[in-house]
Amino acid sequence: MSYYDLKDIDVNNKNILLREDFNVPVENNEIKNDARIRAALPTIKYVLSKGGKVALLSHFGRPNEGVFSKAHSLSIVASRLSELIGQKVFFEKTPLNEKSPEYKNKITLYENTRFLIGEKSGDEVLAKNIAKNCDVFVMDAFGASHRKHCSTYTVAKYAPISCGGFLMMNEILNIEKIFKKPKKPVLAIIGGSKISTKLNILNKLINKVDSIIIGGGISNTFLQSQDYFIGKSLSEENMINDAKEIMQLAKKKGVQIPLPIDAICDNSLKVSRKDIIKISENDVIKDIGEKTCALYEKFIEEAGTILWNGPVGIFEDALFANGTRHIAKSISKANAITVAGGGDTISAIEKFINIDEIDYVSTGGGAFLEFIEGKELPGIKIIKK
Ligand code: 3PG
Repeated sequence: MSYYDLKDIDVNNKNILLREDFNVPVENNEIKNDARIRAALPTIKYVLSKGGKVALLSHFGRPNEGVFSKAHSLSIVASRLSELIGQKVFFEKTPLNEKSPEYKNKITLYENTRFLIGEKSGDEVLAKNIAKNCDVFVMDAFGASHRKHCSTYTVAKYAPISCGGFLMMNEILNIEKIFKKPKKPVLAIIGGSKISTKLNILNKLINKVDSIIIGGGISNTFLQSQDYFIGKSLSEENMINDAKEIMQLAKKKGVQIPLPIDAICDNSLKVSRKDIIKISENDVIKDIGEKTCALYEKFIEEAGTILWNGPVGIFEDALFANGTRHIAKSISKANAITVAGGGDTISAIEKFINIDEIDYVSTGGGAFLEFIEGKELPGIKIIKK
């Protein structure tokens, strides 16, 4: 598959409309992890160094459409970007349905695209207004490429040229290369709190991998599907049947899904390690236990390719961080080709190991998973030749 690529396009003296994914985690008015902003720098710096002017677009969180909210303002990103890039990034609050980018400054970041009415529906009039005055639209927001929104998809119709930026091309080429002919056996580690958000990828992975480690809240629903009692642990009761079907399908296809055999439980009085068969009424499972860590480590040691998305416990709390730390450390030592993606996963990697110890870390979460599923993502479709 070939794509329109920024490196083949002359940007000198051109107005470049650049869509990035600056959806970074923020806590107490501080950016907790700026990996996505740093990942966008090569494209921005390249355009500036070649004499182009940049109008930057991004979404930020999930605000209500048409309503400004300070918590969702990209101004915090404009400041960090200025620091990282070493030059002033102008910040424009005027909504893009009132005023088109004018490219007066070398680099301007526009306010959160999700404040705009018509962004999520991919509105054509809004797209026309945003694309006005641009010479090239560069889609670099791999993390948002699964969204068929105005700024990730429709604008491409109204820009004279559309292409993928360096971040986007890097993601596509690396993920395609690894999963085209993966080194076997392939192990997927899928964690997180809700099975409903991972159901599609789990169903697809059954046909692509040799084993799946399921972690976090998702594994509670899987335990229930195998008739284990999980006390007061987080679970999606309406997904128990789906989990059961995945287990049955995996068995049929010879895909191993080792479930936790012990867990770190919080019963509001104390935190303790318990075998899964001993979980009682008031227990809340918050992490995997040592026996499970050892079991999972074996799978990690034997894998040829490892795909990791989602923590296996509430790793932000030191009491429940051991499982995710153990997974991260085991992956960092593995002989396998290792690939990871997703905001929480990146935070865990940065917390417990060195990011360079993973062969490829994607900036995408949902987009990363949908791309691996083999879906055609709207934001990638527009840059295909
Ligand atoms: C992400 O964080 O995965 C991307 O920025 C997409 O965000 P969204 O799920 O709110 O569309």
